[in-house]
Amino acid sequence: MFMSSVIVMEFLELGKSGEKIPVLGQGTWKLGLDREKEKEALLAGIENGMTLIDTAEMYGTEDIAGEAARGREGLFIATKVSPSHFHYADVIKSCNASLERLGIGCIDLYQLHWPNSSVRIKETMEAMEKLVEDGKIRHIGVSNFSVREMEEAMGVMKRNEIASNQIEYSVISRRAEKEGITDFCRKNRITVIAYSPLGRGSVLSMKGDGLNAALEEIGGAHGKSRAQVALNWLVSKGNTVAIPKAGSMSHAIENSGGAGWRMEREEEERIDGFL
Ligand SMILES: NC(=O)c1ccc[n+]([C@@H]2O[C@H](COP(=O)([O-])OP(=O)(O)OC[C@H]3O[C@@H](n4cnc5c(N)ncnc54)[C@H](OP(=O)(O)O)[C@@H]3O)[C@@H](O)[C@H]2O)c1
Repeated sequence: MFMSSVIVMEFLELGKSGEKIPVLGQGTWKLGLDREKEKEALLAGIENGMTLIDTAEMYGTEDIAGEAARGREGLFIATKVSPSHFHYADVIKSCNASLERLGIGCIDLYQLHWPNSSVRIKETMEAMEKLVEDGKIRHIGVSNFSVREMEEAMGVMKRNEIASNQIEYSVISRRAEKEGITDFCRKNRITVIAYSPLGRGSVLSMKGDGLNAALEEIGGAHGKSRAQVALNWLVSKGNTVAIPKAGSMSHAIENSGGAGWRMEREEEERIDGFL
């Protein structure tokens, strides 16, 4: 029912880089249960325009992402260094290991997975900038950073900008808005990468409450599923890329239909109202 016959992926600029990335990408956390099926799902997502693949050294899924990416042009591979590896030499070592597992020569977006107050951000960012200089990564991102942590990181960077902040953001998780992170990112041209955009699946298992009814009714008006409406709400915010994880081809294809159309302003506001 929700198979997309015409792929209309939309793109936005990553930070201030001038480079365009798709508004929907694919998460890979918790992949690994059925590798062949999951690889097929990633490939179906890629075919349908979700060419940004997000992984992390912590997930143990860089090899699956790498296998799906192998031999394919035009993908955008994002991975993350774990907070326990934020000392200079550890960042370099982690990046080399990620490149190896991914089977690629350069990571498109390398992200600090969580803040780590026990390592000076200056030391970590010096290593990240060295990786850019050496051609091992192209863009520097952060994840789970507050406004203050982004400001601190921006203050110590010499030659590069923070391209993105990956944060939890969905119709049921609005902390990033309340804490001013989404506004700060918009003003400073830092792309928001919305993780758990389907609330780890719980957006789709809600029953009968107001938000669920809103997703169903908006979906009904546009011929879209609840997952597609929830993803479209994030896309509608602008400056935001959502990275749903799908374990099956049908879910991946359905999720790609979260872009290529736009809900009405009143519909977006109706969902906003459930904050
Ligand atoms: N930076 C961070 O700290 C951080 C933290 C968490 C996540 N992430 C990233 O964000 C990605 C996405 O977040 P997430 O994996 O936590 O959760 P999510 O994408 O919000 O939800 C994934 C769940 O939704 C289900 N699902 C996906 N598409 C569906 C559809 N069309 N219909 C019904 N169910 C559907 C999946 O089931 P199936 O598997 O059966 O398809 C899975 O159970 C992660 O994979 C990871 O890359 C980053």
